[in-house]
Amino acid sequence: MVNLKIDGKNVQIEKGATILTAAEKAGVKIPTLCFLQKVSPTGACRICVVDIAGVTKPMTACNTPVVEGMEVTTQSPRLTTIRRQVVELLLVNHPLDCPVCDAAGECELQNICYDLDVTRQPFVAEDVNAPVIDGWPLIQQVPSRCVLCEKCVKVCHETIGSSALFINDKGDRAFIDKDLSLCEYCGNCVSVCPTGTMISKPFKFKARPWELTKVPSVCAHCPSHCQIDLNVKQGKVYRVTSADGVTVNDGNLCIGGAFSYEYINSPQRLSRPLVKRGNQQTAVSWEEALQVAAEGLRNAGSDAVAGLASPRLSNEENYLFQKLFRVALGSNSIDSEARFGALRGQKVLGATLGLRGASNPIDRIGRAGAVLVFGADVTAEAPALDWQIELACRKRDGLLLVANMRKVKLSRYANTQLSYRPGSEVALALALSRILLDRGLQDRDYLSQFVGNLDEIEPHLRALDLDAAVAQTGLSLALLEEAALSLGQADSVAILFGGDVLKGEQAEDKVAALANLALLCGALHGDVGGLFPIDEKGNMQGLLDMGVYPESLPGYQPYASAAVKFEAAWGVKLPKGGRNALEILAGIEQGSIKALYLAATNPLTFPESGRWRQALAKLELLVVQDILPSEVTELAHVVLPGSSFAEKSGSVTALDGRVSCLAQAIKPVGEAREDMEILAGLYNRLAAREAQIQPQQLLAEAKSLTDLYGDICFAASGRGQTCLRAPFRPEKKSLTYSTVALPALAEAGLQLLSGKLLFHFGTTTTFAAGPLQVAPSGYVEIHPEDAARAGLVEGAQVKVSSTIGSMQGPVRLSENVPQGLLFAPHHFAGLNVQSLLPAGQNRVAVEISKA
Ligand code: SF4
Ligand code: SF4
Ligand code: SF4
Ligand code: FES
Repeated sequence: MVNLKIDGKNVQIEKGATILTAAEKAGVKIPTLCFLQKVSPTGACRICVVDIAGVTKPMTACNTPVVEGMEVTTQSPRLTTIRRQVVELLLVNHPLDCPVCDAAGECELQNICYDLDVTRQPFVAEDVNAPVIDGWPLIQQVPSRCVLCEKCVKVCHETIGSSALFINDKGDRAFIDKDLSLCEYCGNCVSVCPTGTMISKPFKFKARPWELTKVPSVCAHCPSHCQIDLNVKQGKVYRVTSADGVTVNDGNLCIGGAFSYEYINSPQRLSRPLVKRGNQQTAVSWEEALQVAAEGLRNAGSDAVAGLASPRLSNEENYLFQKLFRVALGSNSIDSEARFGALRGQKVLGATLGLRGASNPIDRIGRAGAVLVFGADVTAEAPALDWQIELACRKRDGLLLVANMRKVKLSRYANTQLSYRPGSEVALALALSRILLDRGLQDRDYLSQFVGNLDEIEPHLRALDLDAAVAQTGLSLALLEEAALSLGQADSVAILFGGDVLKGEQAEDKVAALANLALLCGALHGDVGGLFPIDEKGNMQGLLDMGVYPESLPGYQPYASAAVKFEAAWGVKLPKGGRNALEILAGIEQGSIKALYLAATNPLTFPESGRWRQALAKLELLVVQDILPSEVTELAHVVLPGSSFAEKSGSVTALDGRVSCLAQAIKPVGEAREDMEILAGLYNRLAAREAQIQPQQLLAEAKSLTDLYGDICFAASGRGQTCLRAPFRPEKKSLTYSTVALPALAEAGLQLLSGKLLFHFGTTTTFAAGPLQVAPSGYVEIHPEDAARAGLVEGAQVKVSSTIGSMQGPVRLSENVPQGLLFAPHHFAGLNVQSLLPAGQNRVAVEISKA
């Protein structure tokens, strides 16, 4: 520790701290402009100058380390004069357009001028200001207002890792420029800019900051669940911000948090309940719509009614959804899109490791010694986890290993890139495990404590044919050894895996192989690093927690064995059996499922969308509860307009078990209702006993019937608040280990992979102007060599056909995909990549031709 005096106050602080930090500790305020806690100090503005006894020149507090015995003066007439001069120099060429500047009211430069009583612009200089940059999507730049503090450049480079911004010149002609191809449109450069230089175009001239009420809530567009403030004026959300230092995301947002909110205000929002009469949907009262839906569902009979819920619903809504079906309708035929991804991973991780989601909070990734990102484009699937990786591997000294068929953003920084052949994930994970064992690098301590059948696992993994794995993955033994060594020698390891594992074929084998790898390299050992399964959808964890699938009741309690407990609590006999999503589809086709309830979900975004399309048209009753129009709302017999995340309360659960509270910041649009209210309306019409359903009561009920929530006190959690669900505690287990029989790979030929884009979240954001500016429509990414062979050029229309469907879209040439692999995003109804995909696959053999 270091002892010093600041303005006569004694301070003790750790070695390496700056004078600014020490002053904060002593309760002394030093003005700053270019300083930003979450990035490295720049020392550019010199507003923070202080005097140090024995040093002639004033020093900048934000980047001068403390020294034992130092005596610092932060306030004096001399320092005030220097600070004033610094500000006056900053104001040379700064336009005095404060009254119309978007930052007015929250401009740090304005505040500093006010605090220092800077009321004049004594210096004049040649006007060298660059013109306003208006050509960038979503963000405008006014270089004349820039004070070159570099906060934007640093947050873009150090925190987000996109490195799109740079200072393009020297001296008084310098301004901030951008490589648009690298920009992630996260808006963090806007939020850290202390002046009105970087401006959000969607927000510009819409509202003055002081007119806005900030409502703390949570962004649930992806499973990271960043804490946000919904900025509201007159019942409308005008922007989304997040505070530095006090939020789990440290004020950072991605495009999903910062620019996707506009779909809330979309003129296309469903705003009135509709009932189909003949072939025509007619607006009706809520009373009538709920009555028609309830009667239709009841009349179909419990064996013939099914429902699909959604990760867009809150925990309470998902809980009520399963109760509505099991208790009020007597049907256990409930499921969701988790069937095609997250649920497959959860089942394996639950059985092998006892996990319910990630093994550690996401901030533990940021301290890991090595991070393996396996079959995931983390930047797109859960951006806040990317920022943790930036922290671990770029700010700190962690090693980054990226295992992906494609080149993704993180490949730029990877210490080891494992570009494996499509479909060889099991071979890759097993090969790494085998090499770890061969080199004696396995985490013996953890394994001996928690794995009961280690003596079986070791010989089992050693039976892997390494040469066959090399041939399958297409990776050299040397590269595999390098990767295994990085994992084996690191003091802590984080393993993240996503869509290509969970949504691909043989997902269970892939997850099992990764679970073995995580055990061997110590990823589950201790509170740094961890194992992080990622499903890109917002409240997928909450949906699984609430047991919205026929095999399980809330809290991962097996349906058959836990039914007695729930029957006692709910006072009903629970139905036997129950169909999953695939069986529901087959049931509709065969005519045994006659009525389907879709709660905030659209099966046309599932694999085999062509089959779903035909099946839905056969239903006697299709009830759709949603917020935006789609092909299924057009098909529906009853449309129940629900609410966006800004229009409802309730809770959501992040992939690491953080439970956060949504806030109802605005009322649902038009006549739309909160989803909870809609489900409760149906429940009360269908259940034997009417119940007053409140979100708090539902979660308390879920807490009493499960072991999910440990000590969480929901009554104490306010809006935007967050607390951790019961943590993962390893228990000694006999593991069922992954197969070492390598699955046969698809024959050579073209394959199409479908996945998430950074700029969109499900299909919802295809109704938001912001993301659409950056990614307006679907496309098919093709390696230039493959394109040339097919006679395709950039922008040409390509027809892509699999054995079950075909689609058409514009070609985008890219070397991010290897030869033989095409990539198409799954957000766009117009592209409809799902029509090509068989159930349980995100990759399929295809043929291409000019359209
Ligand atoms: S929007 Fe994000 S990625 Fe783009 S320049 Fe700003 S900080 Fe960088
Ligand atoms: S644009 Fe804003 S944040 Fe970036 S250097 Fe200029 S004043 Fe600083
Ligand atoms: S990282 Fe996820 S939770 Fe955070 S702002 Fe982006 S979409 Fe929202
Ligand atoms: S805040 Fe210290 S130099 Fe800018």
